Order: sequence, then structure tokens, then C-alpha cells
Amino acid sequence: MEIILAKSAGFCFGVKRATQMAFDAAGKHEQISSLGPLIHSPQMVEKLEQEGVRVCHQVEDISDGAVVIRSHGVTAQEVEEIEQSGLLVVDATCPFVKKAQKHADMLSREGYLLVLVGEANHPEVRGIVSYAKGDVRIVATPQEAGKLPKGGKIAMVAQTTQSLENFSEIVAVCLTKAKELRVFNTICDATSVRQNEARQIAGKVDLMLVIGGFNSANTSRLANLCKEVQPCTYHVETGDQLLPDWFEGKEKVGITAGASTPLWIVEDVMKKVKTYSCVID
Ligand code: F3S
Repeated sequence: MEIILAKSAGFCFGVKRATQMAFDAAGKHEQISSLGPLIHSPQMVEKLEQEGVRVCHQVEDISDGAVVIRSHGVTAQEVEEIEQSGLLVVDATCPFVKKAQKHADMLSREGYLLVLVGEANHPEVRGIVSYAKGDVRIVATPQEAGKLPKGGKIAMVAQTTQSLENFSEIVAVCLTKAKELRVFNTICDATSVRQNEARQIAGKVDLMLVIGGFNSANTSRLANLCKEVQPCTYHVETGDQLLPDWFEGKEKVGITAGASTPLWIVEDVMKKVKTYSCVID
């Protein structure tokens, strides 16, 4: 049996940075909290908790110490609330998300109607919107963009995980609406690189494993994409969930992992898979 491990499997740049910042802060501060779980990996959240990083869901539950802000950011009001409570901010917002927040602030100050392409309920989107000072519309599809008013100045940014295809289609609609249009491509390609590689590998193997938290939207999406190409795809959180039956008669196994899956979990799964007599690619 041969294993093909995706090069893009596991932590993206922003999640790696945020996790490292949380561990560093845990070594320096007696009390440290994250607003919501730092990443969608129950195993990593448990590890962080062992180091003293506790999960809180609102600022008023934190009385002392430092607060780590997750990679997808929080709202401007939450940052203000943290600072006004006398707590120290460890801002682990991914620099790519930060850039979208800065554009939202700048463009709305310049009098543009800000069109943010993304999912209205996603915390990253709520965070970006909170930095805008004027009128903002959150648009998820070209059809929704069709309802925008005609004639004014429009500026556009995207949720970092949006597909370039959807963003481009919505830009095209906005072009027919605005007298002046400014577009900032704030998409981070880590997601599409990971998805494309996973799809490619799934097409070459007869069993595909996708590792990551069951609560991780990007991992579930990855598993669904792989399933479309290779129906024999399993989403697992840890190596303990592998079943020997899955590997019977299989010659090639593909492995990828979501953006919040730590390397040690990927390695553990690899180790377990190797017990089914493999050659590593
Ligand atoms: Fe940042 Fe891109 Fe990851 S925006 S958090 S590097 S998916």
C-alpha cells in the first residue's frame, strides 16, 4: 500500500501563528483566555487548556490577565471592550484578515458603499463589518449583488476564504451598478490550494482520509469535496477512529487535513495507517 500525503495538509500560516502566540503568551501570563476556542481542533484546544489557555465566550467572563484573539479576528467593539476591562490583548488575528479590516475602515471613511463578499454569520465577516464606518452590504451570491442600488461609489473586499470565482462574478455584477468601483482582492489562497491538492490526490487513490475537527467547517468541506471525487473518503479527528476494514484491498491511500489540524495528529494517523504495511510517497 502507498500513502500520498498532501503538502498543504494541516495548519495554514494564520492558524500556526495564532497557536504559537497562544503558547508563548501562556508562558508569560498567569491568566490567559481565548474568546471562543482558538481553533476548531478539540485535541489542540485541550492541549492549550493544559498550558493554561482557557476558553471564554464573552469578555465579561474574563476578570484578569491576557486575551488571545483568534486568527479570524473579532469585532472592533470586542477589542475595545477587552481594552476597557484592563485586560491585555494578544492579537493573533491573521494578517490577511487584518488587511480586510483595514480596507473596510479606510474605504468606508472615503465614502464608498462597502460590499463585503462573504457569509453574513461568519465571525470573520462580523469582524470586518465592524471596522466600516458607513454603509455596508454583505453579499454572498451574484443574485444578491443584483439587488444593490445603482449609481454610487462601491468598494469591494472579500472574506478571506471566498472562492475567486464567486468574488469575480459578484465584481462583474457590481460593475454594472457603480459609477466608480474599487476592488481589493483580500482572498487568501491557502483554502483553494488545499482544496485543489486534495481533489487531485482523491482522484489518484482508492481511499482518502481527511483529518480534522468534526466542528471544523473547512475540514468538512474538504471531506465533501474529496467524496465527490473518491466516494471512499473518511473524515476522522484522530488515528483511533480508523477501522482496519477500510484498508482491505486498497493500494493507494491519500491523506489531507484541515487548516486547524495539528501536525502531531496528522503524524499519528500516518503512523496508524502505516501499520497496514505501506510504502510512503
Ligand atoms: Fe489566514 Fe488564510 Fe489561514 S486568511 S487564517 S492564512 S486560511
